[in-house]
Amino acid sequence: MTYNEIRKVFLDYFQKHNHKIVPSASLIPNDPTLLFTVAGMVPWKGILQGVEPAFAPRVADVQKCIRAGGKHNDLEDVGLDGRHHTFFEMMGNWSFGDYFKEAALEMSWDLLTNVIGIDPKRLVVTAHESDDEAAALWKKIAGKEAIRLGKDNWWSAGDTGPCGPCTEIFYDFGENVPGGLPGTPDEDGGRYVEIWNNVFMQYDCDANGKLHDLPKKNVDTGAGLERWAAMLQGKIDNYDTDLFVNLKHAVSDLTGVRETPENITSFKVITDHLRAVGFAIADGVIPSNSDRGYVIRRILRRAMRHGQILGHNGALLSKLYPALIREMGDAYPELAANEKHVVEIITNEENAFADMLNNGMKLLDNEIPKVQNGVLPGAVAFKLFDTYGFPLDLTQMILRDKNISVDVPEFEHAMAEQKERSRANTKGTKVLWESRSELPATDDKTKYSPDNTMQSKVLAILRDGEFIESADDGDNVEVALDKTNFYGTQGGQVGDMGELKIGDKTVLNVSEAARANNIVLHRGTVSGKISVGDTVSTVVDMNNRSQTTRAHTAAHLLQAALRQVLNTDVEQRGSKVSPDSVRFDFSFGRAMTDDEKSAVEKLVNDWINADMSVAHEEMPIDEAKKRGAMALFGEKYGDVVRVITAGDVSCELCGGTHVYHTGEIIRAKINKEKSISSGIRRITMSVGALA
Ligand code: ALA
Repeated sequence: MTYNEIRKVFLDYFQKHNHKIVPSASLIPNDPTLLFTVAGMVPWKGILQGVEPAFAPRVADVQKCIRAGGKHNDLEDVGLDGRHHTFFEMMGNWSFGDYFKEAALEMSWDLLTNVIGIDPKRLVVTAHESDDEAAALWKKIAGKEAIRLGKDNWWSAGDTGPCGPCTEIFYDFGENVPGGLPGTPDEDGGRYVEIWNNVFMQYDCDANGKLHDLPKKNVDTGAGLERWAAMLQGKIDNYDTDLFVNLKHAVSDLTGVRETPENITSFKVITDHLRAVGFAIADGVIPSNSDRGYVIRRILRRAMRHGQILGHNGALLSKLYPALIREMGDAYPELAANEKHVVEIITNEENAFADMLNNGMKLLDNEIPKVQNGVLPGAVAFKLFDTYGFPLDLTQMILRDKNISVDVPEFEHAMAEQKERSRANTKGTKVLWESRSELPATDDKTKYSPDNTMQSKVLAILRDGEFIESADDGDNVEVALDKTNFYGTQGGQVGDMGELKIGDKTVLNVSEAARANNIVLHRGTVSGKISVGDTVSTVVDMNNRSQTTRAHTAAHLLQAALRQVLNTDVEQRGSKVSPDSVRFDFSFGRAMTDDEKSAVEKLVNDWINADMSVAHEEMPIDEAKKRGAMALFGEKYGDVVRVITAGDVSCELCGGTHVYHTGEIIRAKINKEKSISSGIRRITMSVGALA
């Protein structure tokens, strides 16, 4: 069975068993605790935690995943064996409070043994040491004695969030392959390979490591497609399955080098890294020096280094990307849809690294005479890595001929500090709020009616990283209410300002309504006293809201005008909508000319002057797609979406606030247009009174 056939068999099976089949979510998670989507459950975290409603009781998909940073990281192992990947596809089925252990295991077993015909004798199962129920079910369903394990049978995506005991199914690749059973010292040998994990998501782990029962019992499963391909194609090495064989041929065609036992590592690294880099950039990641952009940059350079080992200099992944589209473009249309953008970004990165290689060599040539005792200081190796983009192994290889080694612990120390800096960016109070998963999500409907002041109850108060019962005059706090009409920062739109009052008295001056995990947080300074349990009235600053609202609709008109004046490849890459001002990032390969800027500004103002009506509608996603509504790059949308249509010029999925007539925007003025990274431009624009 080929990759395409396996995806189909899996999804067909679960569709037959009443699962809703959905497309893969973006590799960029809507989750500050993760750099990438590391598992199929990541897009469903809110549903598992009970803070978002489930759009169906049973769901199945094939999810794009990257494990190359943070808790789940396989980067260093790629190429050393036949099983590790940074990018992979995870097939999964979910029950959101519907079926539980028995039905989940029955379906896994049925699909494996009856539908695709795996010999039950080749399957081995495990269960958590505490989970007698799963062990008894395996006995009943499969006649199997489960191997009982501890931490290997406990699964969570991050350090906090939904988790639970799991039971894994292993495939025995046969006695010719070295390696022992799960739980034995040589379990990683490769003979027994985990092909499916059923996680019973019952708990939510808070920031202190404490487990709380989730509102519902859920099932989360993950089956690695590459491993299934190996199993079903009788290959011990994932890189010998159809998809990888074809990608390796493309590498040979480009480099003119054939695969041999000596260079196989480079072939594996290049094909793996092509998928990670290609898919991540197609989903909107831009190589950079921090967070996920940094991970993708490193992966790209590692690939180039292996191109160099094959004797190939210069453009590599940018030239291989069309082969990736050939192999995976049917299953993932975003690859072809974004081809121009992805190839442009990879090409820029590859060109930039080629220069850095030269400059880094100059630095290294200067440092070599200063080396004492045959050890290059780790700080120098880190500088080469950080400033000139040299992976450590490249530096080591160059120095090896001169009998010089690298102080690796010192390098790793510098690296760890760097990683900590990048992780710190994603931490913050958001994580703390996420640990309070019992707080209800804020009702979406209310956020569009700012004039209806609500009577709401104070549920929680956060001050200086601690949840407190009450806060006093002058304290800077974040307050969660049981319901609110404040728009919390989301989708690029800055949240509302306003006040929380008790009677006539203001108790909180809200400087921004923020958002964590779908809870709106009222951030501001206390006046007098505010306590958990107080009933407050929520008063949104209407003037400020209407300025933000007109800026948001203006941002939609700007996008439509850019697509009309430049070309339809222009896509939004980010935005910030604040009172009367718009910052809009979009994909475009060069600076705009003055004529183009004037034309865009004129078009936006013509549309404002035409006072077109703006429709706000909710509809099923399929209907929105039929209408040609533009969706934000990389975003996962629910079944029912909100569509904002301005005249016949703009139609976008959007959760933000918008005017009803374009004339309300009054006027728009483009202030600046500049580059923010390769292939990405930024426009700043004023509207309304400011313009
Ligand atoms: N979330 C589980 C895993 O990734 C199924 O293994």
